[in-house]
Amino acid sequence: IVVNAAKSEGKISPTMWGVFFEDINMGADGGIYAEMVKNRSFEFLKPLMGWSVKGDKIKEGDLLVLNRQDAQLANPRFLRATIKDAAKGQAGLTNEGFKGGMGIKKDLEYEFSLMYRQQSPGITLHVELVDEQNNILGTGVLKPTDISGKWAKQEVNFKAGTTAAKAKMNIWFEGNGVLDMDMISLFPADTWKGRKKGMRADMIQMLADMKPGFIRFPGGCIVEGTDLANRYQWKKTIGPIEERQLIMNRWNTEFAHRPSPDYFQTFGLGFFEYFQLAEDIGAEPLPILNCGMACQFNTAEVVPLDQLDPYVQDALDLIEFANGDASSEWGKVRASMGHAEPFNLKYLGVGNENWGPQYIERAKAFQKAIKAKYPKINLIYSSGTDPDSDRFHFLDKELRTMGADIIDEHYYRSPEWFLKNASRYDSYDRKGAKVFAGEYAAHIDGKTTGSNRNIWQAAIAEAAFMTGLERNAAVVNMASYAPLFANTEGWQWAPDLIWVDNMNIYGTPNYYVQKLFSTNKGTQVASALAAGKSVSGLDGLYVSAVVDSMKKELIVKLVNTRDTEQNKQVSFEGLKLVGSEAQLTVLKGHLTDQNTIDKPLAIAPTQAALKLKGKTAALKLPANSFVMLKVSYK
Ligand code: AHR
Repeated sequence: IVVNAAKSEGKISPTMWGVFFEDINMGADGGIYAEMVKNRSFEFLKPLMGWSVKGDKIKEGDLLVLNRQDAQLANPRFLRATIKDAAKGQAGLTNEGFKGGMGIKKDLEYEFSLMYRQQSPGITLHVELVDEQNNILGTGVLKPTDISGKWAKQEVNFKAGTTAAKAKMNIWFEGNGVLDMDMISLFPADTWKGRKKGMRADMIQMLADMKPGFIRFPGGCIVEGTDLANRYQWKKTIGPIEERQLIMNRWNTEFAHRPSPDYFQTFGLGFFEYFQLAEDIGAEPLPILNCGMACQFNTAEVVPLDQLDPYVQDALDLIEFANGDASSEWGKVRASMGHAEPFNLKYLGVGNENWGPQYIERAKAFQKAIKAKYPKINLIYSSGTDPDSDRFHFLDKELRTMGADIIDEHYYRSPEWFLKNASRYDSYDRKGAKVFAGEYAAHIDGKTTGSNRNIWQAAIAEAAFMTGLERNAAVVNMASYAPLFANTEGWQWAPDLIWVDNMNIYGTPNYYVQKLFSTNKGTQVASALAAGKSVSGLDGLYVSAVVDSMKKELIVKLVNTRDTEQNKQVSFEGLKLVGSEAQLTVLKGHLTDQNTIDKPLAIAPTQAALKLKGKTAALKLPANSFVMLKVSYK
């Protein structure tokens, strides 16, 4: 295999490898959003979902959920407790936490907070974290101090003395009085960057470690919603969290592989937080907006074309929210949330997986309005889910005709499909629309909505395919695996890139494949040829090479999909090497191997040095392996 750094086959976009975040599989609530209380504002389908009433001093009518309806549309319900002569332990409430309870850590501080209004002062709250056997893990006392009779906020911090993976929170009412409560919340102190009411740090760290070029959010099908009423509306996800109107998560529905009746989007994690996250991890923000069509797997609900304006206006306003200065209407809102500087938005997706002439008509309306006002924003359009179908070809042709900047292709297919399609982009027009491989994953059963785990066979097929993406970086400018996160206690879709439970996290073999590509993306594609041809399937091998002109490195990625070891010579041309060693990184395993909570690194990269013979590396490629070779040059 001859790798020639002098023969550049195109630039690699800094956005080449990114991540796609969606609130599926408990990705946001119960996931990266570190809130531990389920249904904190009593707005779930049933007002007391997640809560249970405790103690013999609570009689019928002592706890009521009141509904302000139109007077407080975004957050109508609150809880009223009427307590008479109760001692601690006689009248209270328990919150069960998200799937599998609350993960409580010894010596960590927790912040309990709520909004309250004292109708009749005199109730003290005793907060208690307990394990599955009711052993107390930590306690805090909150005595409401505001007596104005108006809504007030208060918090109490306390430490847990013991660890428990599946804890619950009791709130005991002591005394006499009438207390209204809303936004009852519990957050750990060890959030990402220590932000109050922030994100789960271990999950965000896994993303930061990938050094992603972009982060696509908030979905996925949740952008579209089961119906238009339940579509994602970014304006309802910003501002004070108690004013963000929650909706039922689209993955709550029977369409999900594992329906979950209590899966809601509370939007504590909203568009401001997504932009901030992108900035934190050095990724370009890539929001996707509803284009006036609900999820077509569920319904064919569309907004009539003559009523599309508010949807288009949402897109224009979002660009102003992200990029406008503090004197603009929406820039001012961003600044008031604590970010005076613009977020520098460059990419915007119009629709997720929508199709048919209806999609094209709506996409054109968005394009006309956005390009007229913001010509530099790169617009991304979806070509759907079935990359070999007539539907795909129709969309692809129409989108190219209308001059789309970037087309988003999705594929959940078998490992064999991925191997066969490693050369998919070799023939794509370099001058036309760029490609965003926005959602992909190899599914062992070959079905779109799989329930299979992340075995090495899937990851190695993706690695082989990704050499094809990298080789064609002149036309493929962005790629992201999907879905990103899953909770072992509650998921709707598998495989997924990163798995968590309340206490633990692990990257799948697919994660390590993604991370190796992403952290070694280079700046230019170099040619890597065997007998004058690209290596895409020859002897079961898939090869790509890049030059990193900033770090002065030449990086070769080789995937051996055979069940046998292969010996190959790789020679480096077109540059002066420094030293006589290459750095070798190897990911390998049996095809059915996977990582788990107990064995999180069963498949993980190992590193070694390899002596070069002049400009040549003699490589032993293990059976079913992904090998990366890195040399430095002058
Ligand atoms: O990644 C899971 C789902 O797959 C996404 O929500 C959707 O875009 C696709 O069908």
